[in-house]
Amino acid sequence: MSVHKAFRKITTHSLHEMKSRGEKIAMLTAYDFSMAQIFDAAGIDILLVGDSASNVMAGHETTLPITLDQMIYHASSVVRAVDRALVVIDLPFGSYQGNSKEALNSTIRIMKESGAHAVKMEGGEEILESVSRILTAGVPVMGHLGLTPQSIYKFGTYTVRAKEEAEAEKLMKDALLLQEAGCFALVLEKIPAHLAEKVAKALEIPVIGIGAGGGVDGQVLVMHDMLGITKDFSPRFLRRYLNLYQEILEATGRYVADVKSRDFPNATEQY
Ligand code: KIV
Repeated sequence: MSVHKAFRKITTHSLHEMKSRGEKIAMLTAYDFSMAQIFDAAGIDILLVGDSASNVMAGHETTLPITLDQMIYHASSVVRAVDRALVVIDLPFGSYQGNSKEALNSTIRIMKESGAHAVKMEGGEEILESVSRILTAGVPVMGHLGLTPQSIYKFGTYTVRAKEEAEAEKLMKDALLLQEAGCFALVLEKIPAHLAEKVAKALEIPVIGIGAGGGVDGQVLVMHDMLGITKDFSPRFLRRYLNLYQEILEATGRYVADVKSRDFPNATEQY
């Protein structure tokens, strides 16, 4: 039996078991049915319907503009494709920061209308009340610390976070608080590898990194980056498994040429 078939369906419990026995967790973003179907068949453990859809699907500069309705549309497409992976959806900016009632109402809409299995939220101490209220309703919550793109205008840049002692200490404290509140997993984005490893060792829940080194319990990448569809984004942490930008560019160029030259369609490609 291959490793990725060990669990028929991934649940928050299977993820904990994976951490306990040292099996790394593979997570990717997905925003549509067709790609989610391929990722699920390939054995991905978690599909994140990230608010990075705002960047890679809609072309916005930040994740801030995407709406709850738009996230639900993407998530329901992904959920329809999946047999095995756990589907987690980002609560978008503005859908939970107001107060815990707003956070719960947004979550209830997501769970009812998309069929997703869990939500992810950015922040630590400041969102604890909302995390607890959502958990009380029976919805699993994944935390997200380090570089939190919904706060980009507070940070000012997308550079590595928590390099200074004070920020690193706050991050560790927030991670422990999120675990205590009941989060089933935590994403750490763009922080020093030694700090991420320290957090992963201190927590019982799985810690998934993006730009956080190999000492954590799993990895996540944005699918457009992993597949080389985005061409101008080359952070050090990114490993590209394909150069789809170039391949699609060339294929489309050949299609255009074939149509213009009347080569397509030929006699066998018509009725
Ligand atoms: O929205 C997203 O894609 C994310 C990942 C970068 C973790 O939050």
